[in-house]
Amino acid sequence: MKILVTGGAGYIGSHTVAQLCADGYEVAVLDNLYTSCEESIVRLRKITGKDIPLHKADIRVQENVRKVLRDEKIEAIIHFAAYSLVGESMTNPLKYYENNLYGTKQLLEAMIEEKVNKIVFSSTAATYGEPKSIPILETDETNPTNPYGETKLSMEKMFKWTASAHGVRFVSLRYFNACGAHESGTIGEAHNPETHLIPIILQAAAGVRKSISVYGADYPTRDGTCVRDYIHVSDLAKAHVAAVKYLLDGGKSDIFNLGTETGTTVKEVIDAAEKITGKDIKVLYGGRRAGDPAVLTASNKKAREILGWKPEKTMDDIISSAWKWHSKNPYGYKK
Ligand code: UFG
Repeated sequence: MKILVTGGAGYIGSHTVAQLCADGYEVAVLDNLYTSCEESIVRLRKITGKDIPLHKADIRVQENVRKVLRDEKIEAIIHFAAYSLVGESMTNPLKYYENNLYGTKQLLEAMIEEKVNKIVFSSTAATYGEPKSIPILETDETNPTNPYGETKLSMEKMFKWTASAHGVRFVSLRYFNACGAHESGTIGEAHNPETHLIPIILQAAAGVRKSISVYGADYPTRDGTCVRDYIHVSDLAKAHVAAVKYLLDGGKSDIFNLGTETGTTVKEVIDAAEKITGKDIKVLYGGRRAGDPAVLTASNKKAREILGWKPEKTMDDIISSAWKWHSKNPYGYKK
């Protein structure tokens, strides 16, 4: 039983590859390495003891994808390969349409041609936009406020219509704030440029940057800073494996939120980081960042009931695993 992971060298992709291997699946990775690097696969081979093949290819080149599906005898796909920076998507939307939408269309055509009919898709809470009520349910309205969320929502719709026309079954997983790192400390979050809260806080703790700027302390929340639903990447990885199993067992196409249902403020994350690292973190308070809703938390009831998945890691687990990764690798995968 072999699973193809597109974008498997990236942050959530690499943790999912580790989990698939731990659960006894054969895995192949397809990645163009534009926003990730081969070093993560080298390290994955060491952690798992498995010979994970890496196909350096782009999903937009359909013939290459078809060849990988044929040569590796792929049974199901987990699709992470996409651009994922909200800010960049605002300034360069067509880059997102080209890679995320055209790329997924090419991948789906390759699947249909090669008779691979199961796919798990890496979606996002950004498909909802500004929520009308909290916690967010899968049935809530979707009104993305940026091209990143818009392309992910369009990708979900592409799966829906392809499912009804060609019998492809899909599971779309809408994650909230992915964070944390593998327990080994050898793979973790490495974006360039880094924009996410927890890596920035830990870079400040490690002295790689001088301070952290909090974007707004005047929100209508318990301490004035934004509330988010932080979910450990290892919990996300387990959900992807549960979704693959669900499809292999004949489950029907569906969409699930992946979050903890627990909201944590920016200040609370900083406090947890100071406690766990034992470092003083210099905090600067600035204005709000455009487009940031005050509160985003998920209902995960549907994933618990249908996929039999539930998050297990706490905020302390998130910070301590991320700290282990950042302390060993302050510049990510760069030597
Ligand atoms: N924040 C700061 N300072 C920083 C960085 C972030 O105060 O330097 C705050 C943000 O304002 C926000 C919180 O920390 O309140 C989390 O911000 P992130 O940038 O880490 O994450 P977002 O909630 O903005 O984005 C996440 C995912 C996106 C996804 C989005 C869905 O990273 O991929 O949720 O709403 F699109």
